[in-house]
Amino acid sequence: MNTNIKALAQDLSNYDNLLLTFNIGEVMRNHLPNILNDKNLLDKSKFDYEKNNPYTKHILYSCDNWSLQALIWKPKASTPIHNHKCWCTVGVYQGELFEERFKRLNNNTVQCYKTVKHKKGVFATLMPDGNDIHRLINNSNEIAITLHFYGINAFKQPSSILNEFSDIEKIG
Ligand SMILES: [Fe+2]
Repeated sequence: MNTNIKALAQDLSNYDNLLLTFNIGEVMRNHLPNILNDKNLLDKSKFDYEKNNPYTKHILYSCDNWSLQALIWKPKASTPIHNHKCWCTVGVYQGELFEERFKRLNNNTVQCYKTVKHKKGVFATLMPDGNDIHRLINNSNEIAITLHFYGINAFKQPSSILNEFSDIEKIG
């Protein structure tokens, strides 16, 4: 295992699931700068680019409590608007990504209240309380790579998404 991922795994093993959710932001702040700057983390020659998908997922590590996936983004690719059923830390490994944050107006309708550009090295943690709703967009003409840490076993649960939202209320 990569040494930086191993250090993270050792740290994460000190927590049970509930404690980990509570402390995940702090744990990730201690490890993500090293991981996102680790040139040896990914063997890009092994990455496939799924032709018809906007982004391709590669599971790099998974145990019962957490997993790590790399996402390879085509230019102009975006996720649906979604929240998560587990904690989630996303960091930019290559390129840059826009993140739109949404607030929920009612069960299905959301409104964008913030758009942030994340450059290489930037990371953010989302909580599984239903209120951290976002969409990620590679608005550039280059391939981007992001790392996604989830509080689930990626082999048992292929998706970390709780809900997708398609009703967007425009501001004004
Ligand atoms: Fe997400």
